[in-house]
Amino acid sequence: MNIDGRPWRTIWLEEGGRSVGVIDQTLLPHRFVTRSLTSVEEAAEAIVTMVVRGAPLIGVTGAYGLMLALQTDPSDASLAAAFERLDATRPTAINLRWALERVRAKVLPLAPQQRAEAAKAEAAAIAEEDVAMCEAIGDHGLRLFQEIAARRPEERRGQPLNVLTHCNAGWLATVDWGTALAPIYKAHRSGLPIHVWVDETRPRNQGASLTAFELGREGVPHTVIVDNAGGHLMQHGQVDAVIVGTDRTTRTGDVCNKIGTYLKALAAHDNGVPFYVALPGSTIDWSIGDGVKEIPIEARSPLEVTRIAGKPAAGEPTSVQLVPDGSDGFNPAFDVTPARLVTALITERGVAPASEAGLQALYAAA
Ligand code: MRU
Repeated sequence: MNIDGRPWRTIWLEEGGRSVGVIDQTLLPHRFVTRSLTSVEEAAEAIVTMVVRGAPLIGVTGAYGLMLALQTDPSDASLAAAFERLDATRPTAINLRWALERVRAKVLPLAPQQRAEAAKAEAAAIAEEDVAMCEAIGDHGLRLFQEIAARRPEERRGQPLNVLTHCNAGWLATVDWGTALAPIYKAHRSGLPIHVWVDETRPRNQGASLTAFELGREGVPHTVIVDNAGGHLMQHGQVDAVIVGTDRTTRTGDVCNKIGTYLKALAAHDNGVPFYVALPGSTIDWSIGDGVKEIPIEARSPLEVTRIAGKPAAGEPTSVQLVPDGSDGFNPAFDVTPARLVTALITERGVAPASEAGLQALYAAA
């Protein structure tokens, strides 16, 4: 995506692969700062502290993290320790484990001196595939948006399609394009008038800070709303479709995404608003059938709930306390939306019902 006329991806190699460049997403939207990751520990820290975040991007960062570890020490023990360190950073998004396993499988049979180069090639391949998958999701999602726009009553034709999204599933969450935002970018670029309701997405406000930043830079009309406004907008016919990403999708079509997604799906179901989930195949966990019971939900610091961060005026702190002294917070970072509430899954291979049969039809031949 373009920032100030320059194309950017969210992750890139520097110095021929001796370090990995990333955008520090904790500083957006107020400061655009890049960082260089030079060791597996720095890669792990970047994932834990959410300098990089979003399921596909943490997968690619993990893959490059293994490369950095193998550059220093290509032994079996180093590979195992790096895998364990990176795998422990964030538990919910399956892309991380998937990418780590993919790199490990590639390098383990090789002689130690060949491993770092092989890890670099595999991580780069994962990154390139992610870009291609996200762009394909954009194309499939665009066709759905065109159909929804065409089905609207005569008096609403030509008016912007109102799409609601939660969290950030844009290019910042992937390597480029995004998952849920890819169809929105494609629609905007194709001339389909579109307007996005952006859930602020407490507690970390990925919607207000990252999605709004992305959409603004791309010139997509958007409005930030508090997380609780979506149901009201749906009751009043102001949402034509909801589209979100997912951090882990079960083989049965349950989707696990940023906390609050489930409530949006319930409201969409109650109001007959289509609820789409956009995902690359790397997000599917074929080993899991029941998302509510089986997907590990990351619990983050209560301080993300009890305090709120923002752009301070000169001399003010970057975060302030919201709650009375002594009040506790609880901070589950994701929730599961059962397949029955999902209108369809939009993947790089096409659009499928959120069901085992639907996913099998797309991926069985993989
Ligand atoms: O906690 P985050 O910011 O990593 O959560 C990100 C999301 O929930 C996204 O919607 C998800 O990763 C799918 S995006 C491609």
